[in-house]
Amino acid sequence: MTHLIRGLGCLAAATAGVVMVATPDETSGVRQANEAITRAMNSVRAAAPRAQEDPARPIYHVCPPAFWCNDPNGPVFHRGYYHLFYQHNPYGDRWGHMHWGHVRSRDLVHWEHLPIALAPSGEAGEEHCFSGCTVINGKGQAMIFYTSIGPDRRAHDSAQQWAALGDEDLMTWTKHPANPVLTESLHGDTKVFEWRDPFAFQVGRDRYMVLGGNLNATRGGRAVVNLYRAENDELTEWRYLGVLFEHPDPKVVNIECPNFFRLGNKCVLVVSPHGSVQHFVGSFDAPAHRFVSELQGRLDPGNYYAPTGLEDAQGRCVMWGWVNGFPEGRGWNGCLTLPRVLTLLPNGELGQEPLPELSALRDAHASAAELPLGEEPYVAPAIAGDTLELIAELDPGQARQVGLQVRRSTDGARSVKIVYDGRELDVAGTRTPLRLAAGEKLVVHVFLDRSVVEVYANGRACVTRVVAADESDLGVAAFATGGNATLKRLDAWTMKTIW
Ligand code: FRU
Repeated sequence: MTHLIRGLGCLAAATAGVVMVATPDETSGVRQANEAITRAMNSVRAAAPRAQEDPARPIYHVCPPAFWCNDPNGPVFHRGYYHLFYQHNPYGDRWGHMHWGHVRSRDLVHWEHLPIALAPSGEAGEEHCFSGCTVINGKGQAMIFYTSIGPDRRAHDSAQQWAALGDEDLMTWTKHPANPVLTESLHGDTKVFEWRDPFAFQVGRDRYMVLGGNLNATRGGRAVVNLYRAENDELTEWRYLGVLFEHPDPKVVNIECPNFFRLGNKCVLVVSPHGSVQHFVGSFDAPAHRFVSELQGRLDPGNYYAPTGLEDAQGRCVMWGWVNGFPEGRGWNGCLTLPRVLTLLPNGELGQEPLPELSALRDAHASAAELPLGEEPYVAPAIAGDTLELIAELDPGQARQVGLQVRRSTDGARSVKIVYDGRELDVAGTRTPLRLAAGEKLVVHVFLDRSVVEVYANGRACVTRVVAADESDLGVAAFATGGNATLKRLDAWTMKTIW
């Protein structure tokens, strides 16, 4: 309940701030932008009480005060705060009217809502502000790059890339006078379809940008990531360098939300191909403007899409994804995953762990000591709830399957199952490969946040699921089938809100 009051308080203060900045001497564009943001925030504020009463709504995952959210956008560290944005419809709990919602945090764990950062500039023919990134340009200005969509710049074949400039504290954003910053004409004779989702990065002194799309009119194949280089410090002039990466699978029709970054001594390309998010690990041949992929994998095959991230103040690669697949009609829809730290494992694959500082959200603790597991599930007597962190270490022994149940009904008839069968981790029916080395125990790290279950296993398998459960289903159990296993330890905490 405390988070509800705090969240709304911030929203009210934020709306008041926006009204005050609309002074008579402002240009009509700025005034219209402020009005659009005020209108949007009033809509969200009016909807917040209903959304926040819903017992299925997460309390420690970032989401708007109400209504729709999809991709995380433009995380950036600036003046002691992490700023994070997200695709937001402030007028309903379905996709539409894309704005950029805005939160900030000092520690990547606790967040506060800020005024909506971007609203479509209707007077300039804009209907949606699609996904993008935030960078500090060579003049020290904070800049959002995003894809601008409207009737004369359709997502399929004529999108434009726009920019907005932030004020000192990144509280208000003004559309850049140089818009559109990147247009199709950069491509010469090459026609790019579904051209969107700018992601900027730096190599030495050179500023680059990647954008997703395809070269085959979205009919299949030729899904590409295109590469651009800035021609000036303001980042308002760009040159097209060519195709950085073409997806090897001819069935992939398009690439959205590319992220391209260095991890250890490798480069990683993350793409959202209208299906499970994929990553490619390899190297960047800068002179040839090509990414050479050596290894391919999936980040999280669950209710997860369009991740983006940043290098944090400690040099870690931290990523958030969009948790999708919630039911409509509840006044809210969508949230972001917990922040995940990506690493390069010794075998060249990607490791994913929850940000260690999330332990600050732990409240009451309970644990179970080592015990044998057989056909009858072990129901942990002191552990129950719908906002829990669990760490279970399991020795599968001879068992065919071992696992956990959360949101378990008292009679055990209903539960959300996390199952390991020696080859795959299965979270509520979604499977991802996981092989244990000889003697390695299964370590399952679960974050249950009402209708969201995020599971990390052994630092290298990750599945996020949206689940439906009765309000009274709060139990936790461990089980083994087809043989005996051992629960080496189980630690559990109830979780506090991030707001
Ligand atoms: C990915 C995506 C992006 C686009 C945004 C629009 O989920 O389709 O490609 O910019 O969502 O909301």
